[in-house]
Amino acid sequence: MNSDVKQEILKRRTFAIISHPDAGKTTLTEKLLLFGGAIRAAGTVKGKKTGKFAKSDWMEIEKQRGISVTSSVLQFDYDGYRVNILDTPGHQDFSEDTYRTLMAVDSAVMVIDAAKGIESQTIKLFKVCRMRGIPIFTFINKLDRQGKEPLELIEEIEEVLEIQAYPMNWPIGMEKEFYGIYDRFHQRIEQFRADESDRFLPLDENGELAVDHPMKETSYYTQAMDDIRLLDEAGNPFSEEDILRGELTPVFFGSALTNFGVQTFLETYLQFAPAPQPRSTDEEQLIDPMEHEDFSGFIFKIQANMNPAHRDRIAFVRIVSGKFERGMNVTLARTGKTFKVTQSTQFLAETRETVDEAVAGDIIGLYDTGTYQIGDTVVGGKKIFQFEKLPQFTPELFVKVSPKNVMKSKQFHKGILQLVQEGAIQYYKTLHTEEIILGAVGQLQFEVFEHRMKNEYNVEVVMQPIGSKIARWIKNEEDVKESMSSSRSMLVKDRFGKLVFLFENDFALRWFSEKNEHIQLYSLL
Ligand code: G4P
Repeated sequence: MNSDVKQEILKRRTFAIISHPDAGKTTLTEKLLLFGGAIRAAGTVKGKKTGKFAKSDWMEIEKQRGISVTSSVLQFDYDGYRVNILDTPGHQDFSEDTYRTLMAVDSAVMVIDAAKGIESQTIKLFKVCRMRGIPIFTFINKLDRQGKEPLELIEEIEEVLEIQAYPMNWPIGMEKEFYGIYDRFHQRIEQFRADESDRFLPLDENGELAVDHPMKETSYYTQAMDDIRLLDEAGNPFSEEDILRGELTPVFFGSALTNFGVQTFLETYLQFAPAPQPRSTDEEQLIDPMEHEDFSGFIFKIQANMNPAHRDRIAFVRIVSGKFERGMNVTLARTGKTFKVTQSTQFLAETRETVDEAVAGDIIGLYDTGTYQIGDTVVGGKKIFQFEKLPQFTPELFVKVSPKNVMKSKQFHKGILQLVQEGAIQYYKTLHTEEIILGAVGQLQFEVFEHRMKNEYNVEVVMQPIGSKIARWIKNEEDVKESMSSSRSMLVKDRFGKLVFLFENDFALRWFSEKNEHIQLYSLL
């Protein structure tokens, strides 16, 4: 294999940040980009108060619509590495795309607010990372403020998320009396708000601060030293293998806003995070970027209407192996059709630029006129194969949908079919009345659906919310009777014709399971 390409691939680190809204994902991303020199001033990625947005045309559209539909990909170089950060939108922007983005990364960074601990959205995203077995690095943020005790936070990670934690560093004090972090990994103390010259203080052979310093006299220092001794004796051992298997998360404390601990985090992350990993095909063959020379990749997201004037779409491709070169021929595995790719784009913080070359680990955008579907495989060589299917996620929100004007029912069905195939929304049908129910993991998916039906298919839709439901598929469908369906446990079919119960709430699900013990229910991810 071409050793230049191999070297390029080994430099890649591709990850997503998972967190609950407001934990500091944007602030951390911005600081990382500053280190990488990809942006020149803080506030360019997202200036919430000033309403300033990064200069990209997608974001103009977001502004017009008042919603954020992009999950952008940011790229920068640092210390010989090329870092790709995939954004995972949260809040009302939460959608299946957020989950699917996690299929395209090799590791994840989990940001936790020190005052709030583990929150609901973090748990959801964490589960998807865990299912993939990818390494997860934790950044506990906002140490410049009052937060929970560090030991309590570590316990929470281990208990709630069921993953082992290894604190790479440990805070000395908090809020106004935050002195810095005891860096267990590099054996030094990193001082908070110190000049570059005395940012790092050395330790002596007993692991104590080796120089005179006022912090040494404080109870925070004594407390931190006690905690560290406890961690050394009773905590988990550091294990690179366990990190790479996703069984141990290295934990870093810091403060993104004050840019404290971020550089140490970035450098240590880059040291341990994996280079682009192999992916499995649907025939359980591994495509290893270190061995498979030809270009291959899969589409994990399709972004529609980035430019309303052109009604274009962009298919986001995670390159799994080889090198992409603009103008090359690729084959779409699903159809077997080969075509030349002339329009491709890469994503930077401030601009979207044409990309001529990219390698495994990178994300490129291909202009799409309706050719691609989510989960599609594109290959450059003669060997045609399909990557493993992307998982389907259990939706939580549901609406009944119909066309406003019955005369438009043909376009209505065509639009729904395409958007469902594209993975924008999930489709269900009631059994006899054949009403269409749409399912989503976040409200945004419905808004985007409504918008696209109007703009791309010229159909106005009526959406009647039926609220959140717990969807459960059925292993032994033959034992299901229609009489089991009620308003609290609605029986519907998914787009593949499989039966699904939509339960009104946890109580309805438990009640049903107790009454019908022989029915084996399961959920998707
Ligand atoms: P998100 O992307 O995860 O939603 O979080 P974001 O970075 O937007 O941060 C949420 C809020 O937390 C912001 O304040 C941000 O300034 C603050 N923040 C982030 N990191 C730290 C930190 O290390 N320490 C402290 N004290 N605050 C932090 P905001 O007032 O909601 O927004 P803004 O008006 O400052 O933009």
